[in-house]
Amino acid sequence: MRQPIIAANWKLHKTIAEARQFVAVLAQQCPDPGPLDVVIAPPFTALAALQDQLRATPFHLAAQDLFWEHSGAYTGEVSAPMLVDVGCAYVIIGHSERRQYFGETDAIVAKKVAAALQGGLRPIVCIGESPAQRQAGETLTVLERQVRHGLAACQSAALSQVVLAYEPLWAIGTGVTATPSQAQEAHGFLRTLLTQVWGESVAHMVRIQYGGSVRPENIVALMAEPDIDGALVGGASLDATTFAQILMYGRK
Ligand code: PGA
Repeated sequence: MRQPIIAANWKLHKTIAEARQFVAVLAQQCPDPGPLDVVIAPPFTALAALQDQLRATPFHLAAQDLFWEHSGAYTGEVSAPMLVDVGCAYVIIGHSERRQYFGETDAIVAKKVAAALQGGLRPIVCIGESPAQRQAGETLTVLERQVRHGLAACQSAALSQVVLAYEPLWAIGTGVTATPSQAQEAHGFLRTLLTQVWGESVAHMVRIQYGGSVRPENIVALMAEPDIDGALVGGASLDATTFAQILMYGRK
């Protein structure tokens, strides 16, 4: 069985004090997430402060990006060993906002995924189609291209460390969530693709998150789908009480 995984992607939000306050409230409201992997991805500036605080909680730390070289003359960049040093277990890679605003391509994503795996970080690799691509019936072609190219450097043995996040661009930050069946269609396709390229046993281990306007009201129905193994949550992860409600999905 795949362990479900729900991650908070704070994007460009929260000071150190706000981040610490969030974790304090979350730990109080959701002290035992059960079998769920809970991941918090603050901005780089809050990683060190949360490292200490998270030690006393069941939550894991993630970065929102990394660079593929270990060190060198790359002003402004942060590497896998640095993220491990500051306590990260996961790193988000290829988020659509990075692809859209910072020119990240599938080739760049592939380098970052390889660097993360080599450095001992679990990559959360984001993929998803634009509204125009969906309208043109290209959704599955786009997903296939992003997976084949983005995970090009992955050997089967490493693939079980990878988390995929299917995030249709038309659902991110819009309040419009993919229906559970729309999401399942994409996730089922991804599972079949992983099986074809990397083999069945490893494809069964890869966790596939859904992302795009996930809220306490829609998490239960999404998680009920067989190939939806978790969620990558943006807006609704900024408030600790709301995020705790998402983590407690299905519980009374
Ligand atoms: P959202 O963002 O939950 O605000 O739609 C999700 C994401 O971008 O990861």
